[in-house]
Amino acid sequence: MAKRTSLQGFWSSRLAFILAVTGSAVGLGNIWKFPYVTGEYGGGAFVLMYLAFVFIIGLPTMMSEILIGRRGRRNPVTTMQLVGEEESGRSAWKYVGLMGVCGGILILSYYSVVAGWAVAYIPKAASGAFVGSDAATVKSLFNTLTGDPWALLGWHSLFMGLTVFVVARGVERGLEQAVRILMPALVIMLVILLVYSIRHGDFMAAVNYMFRPNWDDISFEGALVALGQALFTLSVGMGAVMAYGAYLPEETNIGTAAITVVLADTTIAILAGLVIFPVVFGFGMAAGGGPGLIFQTLPLAFGGMPGGVVFGTVFFVLLSFAAWTSAIGLIEPAVAWANEQFSVPRSKATLAIGGLIWLIGVLSVLSFNVLKDEKYHTPLGTLFDTIEFITSNVMLPLGALLIVIFAGWVMCRNSTSDELKMGSGLRYDMWRFAARYIAPIAVIAVFLHSLGLLSRFTNG
Ligand code: PHE
Repeated sequence: MAKRTSLQGFWSSRLAFILAVTGSAVGLGNIWKFPYVTGEYGGGAFVLMYLAFVFIIGLPTMMSEILIGRRGRRNPVTTMQLVGEEESGRSAWKYVGLMGVCGGILILSYYSVVAGWAVAYIPKAASGAFVGSDAATVKSLFNTLTGDPWALLGWHSLFMGLTVFVVARGVERGLEQAVRILMPALVIMLVILLVYSIRHGDFMAAVNYMFRPNWDDISFEGALVALGQALFTLSVGMGAVMAYGAYLPEETNIGTAAITVVLADTTIAILAGLVIFPVVFGFGMAAGGGPGLIFQTLPLAFGGMPGGVVFGTVFFVLLSFAAWTSAIGLIEPAVAWANEQFSVPRSKATLAIGGLIWLIGVLSVLSFNVLKDEKYHTPLGTLFDTIEFITSNVMLPLGALLIVIFAGWVMCRNSTSDELKMGSGLRYDMWRFAARYIAPIAVIAVFLHSLGLLSRFTNG
């Protein structure tokens, strides 16, 4: 079979690909979401489940997405359709790609609003708004921002504008270059913050909280949210990595690339937790503070450290960049799809999809003010909470499940071993075993558990 070639161009090197996937993986998921869901779902047991899911489900799913993407060389919808036809004669697999496209659009709709908070915090930090502040003032600073729909709308619009701007031009060197410098800078900033947290926060309380599992703390939702977080933070389950895989040169070793990304992403999440929680406990704040957690803890740290104005500004700049490189991964499947399927030029496709995402994002903007009231809530909380929960904890696990089943069961052994280029050694067998059995069984078990179905058996 003649190999297809990508319609959107190729990454210039293996490093470029690793940087792009890392850029998409490392984002608000690591620094904003990981600490706040850990806090909401009780600490240690949640963190251990998250780590287990990263390695037994996230990693094999990431490898599967890359290999399917490179095989198909198209946007996730067409890729799933073509590879589905070739491997099994069924084109209905395209719906898995379509669900990913929709998932990316929905995730970015609220992701952009939170990224807007990070951008809004740049001028706040630079103007010294955090200096000498206490827990009450940083809290009211945050509530003033989220309580103002026009301000939120402005920051959300700015962030979407920035995303559309880069994506419309095609994912070029500019972005690769940015990730190359910004990611290491982000890690350095986290280490500087870590020093502050160790000295001024309650570091041991944080370590105990994060790593000593208290299994009684786990609510029935906890396992599901840990799974959702593992997939969200790695950007898998919705086709972002599949889309990036389509632009990957033939020779690159997929396994090494995936492991590198997973380790980098996990390290950054753990570091973020070790920065946030010492401050939470040291300053008597609540770990379950919800989506505002980092915006109420980090300013305290910056406000109290020497050079905090500079460090704070740099940090929120880096966080905004990390969110930006992730936003690109969220929108890419939809843009590539519109471009290839309907022959809309890339720039127009980006503008149209960006506009749609912006509009849906208005719901999240209003969730914090105009529609904050109980009477506008769904059973899952505000509209923001609802979109977040359904995308991360239902759509991503379902997407990941179908993707590993496709790679493990539908694709024949020759095709996958050909793409993974691992020969037929142990490493290939391990991937295949994980994709066929471990990952699907784990996802299904978590789904059943969260529906309360497994407890019927375990409780006799
Ligand atoms: N992984 C990103 C983060 O942690 C979010 C994301 C999800 C990006 C899915 C792309 C695709 O912030």
